[in-house]
Amino acid sequence: MNEPLRELIEFLKIPSVSAKEEHKPDIQKAADWLVERLRRAGFSAEAVPTAGHPIVYAEKIVGEERPTVLVYGHYDVQPAEPLELWKTPPFEPTIRDGKLYARGASDDKGQVFAHVAAVSQLGGELPVNVKFVIEGEEEVGSSNLVPFVEANRERLAADAVLVSDSPMFAPGLPTLTYGLRGLTYMEARLRGLGRDVHSGAYGGAVPNAAHAAAWMISQLKDPMGWVRIPGFYDDVEPISPAEREMWSKLPFDEAEYAAEVGARSTAGEPGYGILERRWARPTFDVNGIGSGYQGEGSKTVIAAEAFFKFSMRLVPNQDPGKIADLTEAYLRKIVPEGYELEVLRYHGGQPVLVPTDSSPMQAAAAALSRAWGRETVFTREGGSIPIVYDFMRVLGAPVVLMGFGLESDNLHAPNEKIDLINFEKGIEASKNFFRLLPQYVGKGK
Ligand code: BES
Ligand code: ZN
Repeated sequence: MNEPLRELIEFLKIPSVSAKEEHKPDIQKAADWLVERLRRAGFSAEAVPTAGHPIVYAEKIVGEERPTVLVYGHYDVQPAEPLELWKTPPFEPTIRDGKLYARGASDDKGQVFAHVAAVSQLGGELPVNVKFVIEGEEEVGSSNLVPFVEANRERLAADAVLVSDSPMFAPGLPTLTYGLRGLTYMEARLRGLGRDVHSGAYGGAVPNAAHAAAWMISQLKDPMGWVRIPGFYDDVEPISPAEREMWSKLPFDEAEYAAEVGARSTAGEPGYGILERRWARPTFDVNGIGSGYQGEGSKTVIAAEAFFKFSMRLVPNQDPGKIADLTEAYLRKIVPEGYELEVLRYHGGQPVLVPTDSSPMQAAAAALSRAWGRETVFTREGGSIPIVYDFMRVLGAPVVLMGFGLESDNLHAPNEKIDLINFEKGIEASKNFFRLLPQYVGKGK
């Protein structure tokens, strides 16, 4: 087994789940592991404490006249549950059929570590200044990273921001992502009674919060996929004919896409293709729902309360705060009489489009093509990396979204994996990028 792979396995063994308090020591351990590894690669590195989880900051300055790359990634991972669905335990990395299985293999430890391995292998030959910002709170909203970026504008200054936390369009197809959706995450809680009651003794004569919640959900999105919140689509930028044309040329098979997730058919707004729905149309999805008896067998009861958690993926020009306001106003309008409604707002993120003609983007396209021996394609993505917007806003540097993962890597799900070839080519592409950048941005040799 090669050195980078052995090290990645070591990194993946640390269960750095950011959402759970019990994993706080593991979060620290993962941050310390990175600091130690980056120091060994000749970087000055530290784990900067925050109100939440530490941010790993590291830099290696090879020359003032050289271009500077800021590499961003995250060392935190999603919870591994449901554990019984993993073929091998999530924090015991295992290789099967050329793939490495572990929580965080693709999102994002495998991808961010490809860059650490790259700078390490380049050693004294590193032709650019490199700074790393690797956070421990990406999966829980990056709330402490925004103030860190704002407070360290000078220290983080760069000619390019390099982010690897997204998938390639298809296996073997080098991909640069130029668009990400934004996000508004909320929860509605309904109370119809002061306590749970017998459904025979009271049924038909008292409010049932589960029904009210179901009815409200039905009013939020129609069966065709149209979001019914007034004003929701007001700021949506239409898809340009040029983008439509470009996306239609990508190798995509709708039946295969449905089969890959075990769906009988795809879903969504009529008039738009699957890629358009995922990349350039906003959507509403219930992410969790609860009320009443969830145990074995039956229980005749009317629950006092119900809740549903939901999120809206947003596209350029929509604003997460404005969407949250519109949604809350609509929920308050439609809530049936006799229920107390509480609306909660969780984290959000702005949608982004990064320029495709920036010189770092061109260097990245060449770097990827060289690694994979194929021409790089340009795509958008449906997921969100909220800090990208803040990097653009605060640092004003072009962002390059150079993902090494695959859509089928089981992100946030059981049996997450990274293909070993992707990890290997990721390291190669990263080295190519650092080598090519100076001639593209015209600094250094
Ligand atoms: N790596 C993903 C982002 C991603 C997923 C980009 C799929 C492109 C395609 C990232 O770690 C993530 O999951 N982000 C969260 C952000 C949220 C918690 C604010 C997301 O998209 O749900
Ligand atoms: Zn993620």
